Amino acid sequence: MTISPDELETQLAAIKEEALSKITATDTLEQLEQLRISYLGKKAQLSQVLGGMGKLAPEDKRRIGAFANVVKEALQEGLEKKRTELQAAQIQAQLEAETLDVTMPGVYRPQGRIHPLNSTIDRVLDIFVGLGYTVAAGLEMETDYYNFEALNTPPDHPARDMQDTFYLPDGNLLRTHTSSVQIRYMEANEPPIRIIAPGRVYRRDTVDATHSAVFHQIEILAVDEGITFTDLKGTLKEFFQDLFGEEIELRFRASYFPFTEPSAEVDVKWRGKWLEMGGCGMVDPNVLKAVGYDPEIYTGFAAGFGAERFAMVLHQIDDIRRLYNSDLRFLRQF
Ligand code: DAH
Repeated sequence: MTISPDELETQLAAIKEEALSKITATDTLEQLEQLRISYLGKKAQLSQVLGGMGKLAPEDKRRIGAFANVVKEALQEGLEKKRTELQAAQIQAQLEAETLDVTMPGVYRPQGRIHPLNSTIDRVLDIFVGLGYTVAAGLEMETDYYNFEALNTPPDHPARDMQDTFYLPDGNLLRTHTSSVQIRYMEANEPPIRIIAPGRVYRRDTVDATHSAVFHQIEILAVDEGITFTDLKGTLKEFFQDLFGEEIELRFRASYFPFTEPSAEVDVKWRGKWLEMGGCGMVDPNVLKAVGYDPEIYTGFAAGFGAERFAMVLHQIDDIRRLYNSDLRFLRQF
């Protein structure tokens, strides 16, 4: 059955009418897209009508073809106009929904603050950074080598007794001190070295007012040509005076650490009382050898301090556990 050109034209006009009225009635972008597909898509009515044109005489083909184009353009224009309209409406609705009333009362969020332990560590770091030191970090899970062996503490060494810790199934351990950072840093760098290494350390200690199984240390290491014990004394004097904010006296008591020789405990006289502050000494030649430094060329000093101890002395805190309990009545005082 053939279809007459006039019939085709009527069909096209009907499609145009129908489509335009549907487009006008549409109120969502999704619906509009459905209409576009059903009228202008590959399987659309318009395409099917045009498919029937093949059998027309050439002059009819031209006329109907031209009219089909007019219809197509009208539909495209209608769709485009509606799309712009709907998009504008959508933006307008969104703007209205998101309107902020700037006169409403604000949401109150309590102001946090730095934990006294962290502020103490930060102060110490600031002082040493001011003296030209670089902040270094190691690992909390360590190998026996970095925590003990390379620090001149072989497996049968009695000094290990005082640093019993948590051993992991794979033979690694939770570091007992930040001294392990010395080794890691020296292995990766060449002298001159000036580092400060704060961090968490672990001991198999029974918790009481001055002990915790997890606590924090601050390690200092300087290695260079010609470093002597006077450099250590001068550095610590400078540091403690800055930390306490006033002239203080220092006292060195002979001590023993496997990784320093000679070793000392350092005390600070503050407000008339001697306070134990930490351990220090000249880096043992065996430690320098362990990282491949020539102890005939380089010397160095090291020191290790307890961060909790600093915080407790500076803020007159009577029990180390207050630093971990997260009791706001305590924390709000800082
Ligand atoms: N690592 C020692 C400890 O945890 C403290 C210490 C002593 C560190 C002397 C040092 C040092 O660097 O030279 O008890």
